[in-house]
Amino acid sequence: MSPISRRTLLSSGLILSTSSLLARAGWARAAAFMATEANAGGPATIGPREHLLFDHGWKFQFGNGTDPAKDLGFGNTQEDFSKTDNFKFARVGYDDSKWRSLNLPHDWAVELPFVWDDTLAPHGFKPLGRRYPETSVGWYRREFDVPASDAGRRIAVEFDGAFRDVLVFVNGCFIGRNDNGYAPFRFDITDFLAVGAKNCIVVRVDASFGDGWFYEGAGLYRHVWLTKSDALHLGKWDSTVRPKATDGKAVNLELATIVVNEGKNFEKAAVSWEILDAAGKTVAAADAPAQVIDVDGKVSFAAAAKLSDPALWSVDTPNLYTAIVTVKTVDETRDAERVTFGVRFLRFEADHGFFLNDQPLKIQGTCNHQDHAGVGAALPDRMQAFRIGVLQGMGCNAVRTSHNMPTPELVEACDRMGMMMMCETRQMSSSPEGLAQLEVMIKRYRNSPSIIIWSIGNEEWRLQGEQAEEGAKIAATMVERCHELDPTRVVGAAVNGDNEKGVSNPLDIVGFNYVLKYPDVFHKEHPKRPIYGSETASTISQRGCYQTDPLRNTLSAYDVNHTVWSQLAEEWWTFYATREWEAGGFAWTGFDYRGEPTPYGWPSINSNFGIVDMCGFPKDNFFYYKAWWTKEPVLHLFPHWTWEGREGEEIPVWVHSNLDEVELFLNGKSQGRQKVPRLGHVEWKVRYEAGAIEARGWKDGKLVLTERRETTGPIAALRLTADRTAIRSDGEDVVVLTVDALDSAGRALPTADNMISFKVTGEGALIGVGNGDPNCHESDKEPRRSLYNGLAQAIVQSTRTPGTITIEASTVVRGSTVAPAKIEIATKQVELRASVA
Ligand code: GAL
Repeated sequence: MSPISRRTLLSSGLILSTSSLLARAGWARAAAFMATEANAGGPATIGPREHLLFDHGWKFQFGNGTDPAKDLGFGNTQEDFSKTDNFKFARVGYDDSKWRSLNLPHDWAVELPFVWDDTLAPHGFKPLGRRYPETSVGWYRREFDVPASDAGRRIAVEFDGAFRDVLVFVNGCFIGRNDNGYAPFRFDITDFLAVGAKNCIVVRVDASFGDGWFYEGAGLYRHVWLTKSDALHLGKWDSTVRPKATDGKAVNLELATIVVNEGKNFEKAAVSWEILDAAGKTVAAADAPAQVIDVDGKVSFAAAAKLSDPALWSVDTPNLYTAIVTVKTVDETRDAERVTFGVRFLRFEADHGFFLNDQPLKIQGTCNHQDHAGVGAALPDRMQAFRIGVLQGMGCNAVRTSHNMPTPELVEACDRMGMMMMCETRQMSSSPEGLAQLEVMIKRYRNSPSIIIWSIGNEEWRLQGEQAEEGAKIAATMVERCHELDPTRVVGAAVNGDNEKGVSNPLDIVGFNYVLKYPDVFHKEHPKRPIYGSETASTISQRGCYQTDPLRNTLSAYDVNHTVWSQLAEEWWTFYATREWEAGGFAWTGFDYRGEPTPYGWPSINSNFGIVDMCGFPKDNFFYYKAWWTKEPVLHLFPHWTWEGREGEEIPVWVHSNLDEVELFLNGKSQGRQKVPRLGHVEWKVRYEAGAIEARGWKDGKLVLTERRETTGPIAALRLTADRTAIRSDGEDVVVLTVDALDSAGRALPTADNMISFKVTGEGALIGVGNGDPNCHESDKEPRRSLYNGLAQAIVQSTRTPGTITIEASTVVRGSTVAPAKIEIATKQVELRASVA
């Protein structure tokens, strides 16, 4: 919803004083978790097909949404699309020397300044839209070689998604368009290419229109590929592997694919499957006999294989298998591809919730948009794993890709890391465009074990209300299409309301957004229909801040604020955790995101809904969830204890914990021992005096954990920590750095706001900075960022040359440089993924 239409009233306005830094132990644990994850690597090329990364070496310049003279003359006359002659900019030799050089993925919105115009609030106050023609259109241009050996092959350019309206030109010819921000699209450009020569592609991207009410970025913000295949090839995303349980431990794999013949002669082809386990060992195989495929024909192939004792995919053991699907004519391999899949069994029961592999499992989910600090919507692949690692650090076991089809690397990270997904399409519509987006999402991801629910959309008020009859028909068509393309998964939707009419009836599982009074009633009225919380919480808080002050746009990190339509963390989770029939729910949101600066609007430029901030630094509620979403002992004490000038004032001190009892001490003096209520927290009021507070947590009568917050002194040094000590030298991998400030005793300063300068030398480059402050208007791209409540983040990307990256962070306090911090990251030689030269 738009923050303007919902400019909110805080539900509870009590609140106190200033801010704090989070428990070091908390985010360090999350960081350690992330360190295990390597770069995704992307789709590997096998067999004669080439899948070439087309990300490097592009030229870019802004066009213009209204003035053709500033838009390469495009749109100057009626004749724009009349003759190939008009697209001179897309011919080899056109002078683009003044254009900027860059690599994809690229989001130009994040590079723009913030502009105070309330209509821009959803986009995080970035000047995009028809009223901002100067910054809403971008042109990308790339010349590339097509070797003579490519003669006879089919060549296509493939976009994993772009924001938003795209026109593609190749060698002076108009190729096609795409008009949505999230679905992948491709064009076969074989006929337009000069083989054995240089070629040129130009892409005009127009972000004047939007798809959502949140930050969506602008430009070629996902990968681009050039694929080259035999004219006889596997259909795009037509291969499926479906595990079926048998009586015993074995699993039958139903294997299917489609072979397409775009050649000039009929062909007789056979298909084979080889199934590899995670170690690469062949564990099963199958063949489908040869069939004739006519010119321009498509033929389905199917076979079955048995896995005798499969390693199941689960959130704890995300075991993956690979099927290598090969098309052969006589003895020649014509095409092949890898399909990653997992063996796992899903079940939703109306009375008992969700089951994974026959074990009950509560969905402990978060909804997430796709942008991150520093990089906007253009995330290097590694950032997907980083973000999933952060969420797993608090016990989150499922993500909802609100409100759009995700990028492939996010799904791959979830498959690899054991994160379940509710995968959502952007448009709740059975129009040709709506169905096309839905179909491509399902075909693209239906082999991914992480996906447990398809979602046909979010909060289409009219289709639930005034146009309920149409809503029911639209949803029925969408659900039916989902079932046709994937009979193995349930279909849901995120519905805000009682779910009694409109889109709800045709759904397999019924999603409830927010209002907690509805699920109980619905469950009573419809005891046979499985229910889950498609969107909950919208708790609002800012990291390290302990005062809600509408004059300063601040929100406290105690679990005390939510919007009028939503709940506290403790409220919604207590509701879902205590109803066996609730499959679980998805909190709005895991990460803060740009746009929707609820409840305040300008100068806030990003949301406050996150359990972690834009950088992934945990807010205190992270530890509420961790306490009740994991089995690890948790004792999180807050706020910090540096309150100069507040001596003698009462400060609320909270502990999020899953231990039995907690005792709090102020400078060694007990403030009382309390039992921790199940799914709750404990709190004290403590008169401030400098020194330390300490919480001691007991379980079964034993002291298990102790946490201290000490009063800190002035800044004495900076510290830099990295999520990994070595990364890949592939020009894509990134290291994520945290900088904080320390006093002379080495204690992190919880409220430090020093401006930090970053210097990166060696085999890497700074690609973004952030600090998680929703009210900060500093650039995401400049090599400097102020600390926000003690923390800032820098994201550094490797070059393609192995070596060392040195990162230095420095700050100046009252004219002198404080001891700077320096860290070295090794970049390791790796095989580069195949890319366009
Ligand atoms: C929901 C909506 C989300 C977001 C959220 C904020 O109604 O589905 O996209 O706007 O409100 O609370």
